[in-house]
Order: sequence, then C-alpha cells, then structure tokens
Amino acid sequence: MSDQADAIWQSIANSPRQTLSALFEQDPERLSLLAHRIPLAGTDILFDFSKTHLDSALLAQFEQLAGAMHLAGMRDQFLSGAKINSSEDRSAEHPAERGMGAVDSVESANSLHARMAALVDAIDQGVFGEIKHVLHIGIGGSALGPKLVIDALCRDSDRYDIAVVANVDGEALSEAVAKFDPARTLVAIASKTFTTTETLMNATSAIEWMREGGVEDPYGQLVALTAAPDKAAEWGIDETRILPFSETVGGRYSVWSSIGFPVAMALGNDGFAAFREGAAAMDAHFASAPFARNMPVLAAFADLYYAQVRGCQTRAVFAYDERMRLLPDYLQQLEMESNGKAVRRDGTALGRPSAPVTWGGVGTDAQHAVFQLLHQGTHLIPVEFIAARLAGHEFDEAHHRALLTNCFAQGAALMQGKASDDPQRSYPGDRPSATILIDSVDPQSLGALIAFYEHRTFANAMLLGINPFDQFGVELGKEIAKSMGNRQSGDFDPSTAALIDAAGL
Ligand code: F6P
Repeated sequence: MSDQADAIWQSIANSPRQTLSALFEQDPERLSLLAHRIPLAGTDILFDFSKTHLDSALLAQFEQLAGAMHLAGMRDQFLSGAKINSSEDRSAEHPAERGMGAVDSVESANSLHARMAALVDAIDQGVFGEIKHVLHIGIGGSALGPKLVIDALCRDSDRYDIAVVANVDGEALSEAVAKFDPARTLVAIASKTFTTTETLMNATSAIEWMREGGVEDPYGQLVALTAAPDKAAEWGIDETRILPFSETVGGRYSVWSSIGFPVAMALGNDGFAAFREGAAAMDAHFASAPFARNMPVLAAFADLYYAQVRGCQTRAVFAYDERMRLLPDYLQQLEMESNGKAVRRDGTALGRPSAPVTWGGVGTDAQHAVFQLLHQGTHLIPVEFIAARLAGHEFDEAHHRALLTNCFAQGAALMQGKASDDPQRSYPGDRPSATILIDSVDPQSLGALIAFYEHRTFANAMLLGINPFDQFGVELGKEIAKSMGNRQSGDFDPSTAALIDAAGL
C-alpha cells in the first residue's frame, strides 16, 4: 500500500468519534448525505447508511483513499473487461453477462444466453418428454446463486419443481429426489471446472437413481452448465445439452451465466432476462455515480470503517423477508471467498484486517435468537437489514406491517439504546446499522441487489489492494481430502490419524 494511502488511513483512524445520535443532531442534512433512493430498471432501491458513523469528513477522507488506491481506474478496467484478476491472468467478466464489458465478450455472452433460452424453450415444448422436475447439482458458486434466486422468486411458479443439491452427503441427494419421478426429471450438472469431486459424485449417483427408476437412457436427461465443455463431453454429456459459459466468469459471480439455467427453467426466459436487467442497471450506477453517492462504494466505505478502524471482526446481515432468507448464505461466499485474504495483489502482506466474517439470518426469527448480543454484547457488529416494501403473500397485510416495523425498530433500538439504573436493563446504543429497502422481491430488484453486493465486494478489495477474484485458500483441504483415500493414517498428524482410525476409513 502506498505511503499516501497509509497516511489517509491514519487520518481516518484519528478522526473524532461521535455517537450516531450526535451525528444526527449536528447535521440536519444527514439523510440527504447518506440515504439514497436509486432508480433502477423501472424500480428503485432505498439505501440508508445514515445509521452508520460515516459523516461528511469521513466520506471526504474515504474519497481520498479511493483516489490513492485508483478505485475509479480499477473499476473502469474491470467493467471494460481488462485482465483484472492478476493472479490468474484473466478478466472478471460477470458484467458482460449483463451487457457491460469488452464487445466480443458481451456478444459471446449474448449468444450463449440465446442458446440457453432455446434449450429452455425446447424443454417447455416437450422435446425431452414430460419434464416436471429439475435436479440442479452443483456446489459453492454453482449452487448458492440459483438456490437464493429460486427460493426468492419462484415460490409460486407452476413451471417446474427445482431442487438444488450441493452437499456430498448422500442425505442431500436422497432428500431432493424423494419427491421426484426419475422419468420426468432433468438433471443439470453445474460446475465451472467440471472437476469438483462432490458434484461429480452426486451426478453419478443421480444417474444411478434414474437407472434404478427405470430410465433407459439417463444420459439423455442430463444438461451440463460449465466453463469446461470438453470435460463435460468427456464425461458423456451430449454436446447439444452442454451450456457453456466463459472461463472469465468466477464461480461466485456465475448465477448470471448458464449456471442460472434452473432459474430460467423456474422463472422462464423473460424472468431470467429481467433478473440480468436489474443487475445491468446496478452496473450502470456503479460505473458512473460519484463515489459519495455510489452505493456499492459508499457501502464499502462503511465496511472498511468498521473493519479497519473500529476493529469489527464480523458483519451481520438480516433479511426481513422470508423470500430472501438465503441471502446471508450467498453473501458469505461472495464476501469471504473474495476478500478473505492476507496478501495484496502484488503478493505483499496486507498488514491490516481482511474482510470481516459475514453472518446473519432472517427477521423476525433472529430477533428472538441472536439479537441479544447485538444489543448488549461486548462486540461491536455493524448490522444490515434488507426488506421489501411490498409483501408477496395474500394473508392479512398486518403480517407485512409487523415485519417492517420490527425491522425498522431494531435499527432504531441499536442506535438509540436505553439508559437504566439497572445495568442489566440498560442498552448502550450507538450501534450501527444500514437498511436496504427494495420495492418488491421481483427479478429486477433482486438482480440489482445482488450486483450491488458484487460491486461492494469489489470496491472493498480495491480499497485494500487485494484481488477478489481468486480463491487459492480453498485448495489445500481439497488436496488433502483427495490424498486421504490413498494413504495410511500414519501419514497424518496424530489428531487426524486418530479421526481416520475412529471413523474406520
Ligand atoms: O471450492 C471452492 C470453489 O472453487 C468455489 O469457488 C466454486 O464456486 C466451487 O468450488 C465450485 O466449483 P465448480 O463450479 O468448478 O464445481
């Protein structure tokens, strides 16, 4: 990191610390500084960061940091398809899946989307028989995105029943297939590399399940979603049912590519296109809005302030909407796999905290489980609330009113606190939160929301100087697991050897 950036960090760390209540009292314009309603693809999203400790002085310093870390230039390179993923010598082209990037990449993504749409149409028209179920097999980025989006948007869909299976634990596959008829099931094998052990083992067992269920040609009911089409073909999948995507789309950024096939199956092609349109609107905002009003960047400023200056080791995310209950799981991979790194792009030590631990849950349930610690524990944990203005169900509107009032009340309570003569009953307050309010849980809004998190993760990485697009840290465990099968317990440390023996492996 440059001396200039170090000096700015020093001055941010030395900035006067004021309580949230004092910040509100001092600045009547605080909402216009930190709460912005951003118009996006026919809807809009309200991002309220006014209950964080950012103020105009801190914003100005973070803008200087952005200058010192070349955030604008790095963003422009990223969005134009330059090779920003330096350790793997390639670009990070998920925005091309939404229409932004190098011309060739956008054209190629468009044609791959058209190919996928044609396959979805063919399945709809019965070319593969009477398909009713889709078994999507993938793990990590090849599962979490589709799972989140389908759970959020396809609850009322009468198109196909979709199950997403990730875990190599056979319980996961067995639960998923229990309700499916093998003859009417299409199996989508989702793997960027087409080498992931868990996915290929689940796929093999799914084929076996179809065979045992009387399907004569199970391979005729397989679709591959991959950046390694040759490997899928070697595995026995017919070329016409291999839906490729670009090697430059990272796993945790891949829901926009053919990895989103089950989303298109459940939502229809138009719904999947609308989901990408929402993300494209966020791309345009990220590409052009001034940093102090650029929501992914402003959110990254808040993230860095808490992780780097206030020593917060975790960040909590609560979806106050059952439909978005999988968002914390999705964000865990996005943020922790991207920015959980101790070295910078140039290989030098980061020398400061990396991304905090992302965790969370769903409101109002979490209020009755973990919020005690948020209000009165000794940890300072920035909290993020995500809610939708409109309900999706048809029960009394009192449900949704209660949901939203609880959400907003928690943010107010964390900030206000409450004095009491009884220390057990006093709340310190001054605890930060941000609230993101979308209009409704629809494809455009969800697409924009997910893209917001992607770009926030990118901005965090650039401001720290790290590469968010590789994930070498996940390899060692995989290597050891692979080698375990062929080795004696004596080859391992005493604890691991004893576990191998105890399990009878
Ligand atoms: O183990 C981590 C990881 O490589 C993730 O980055 C990725 O999303 C996941 O495994 C699945 O990989 P693949 O899509 O190649 O099967």
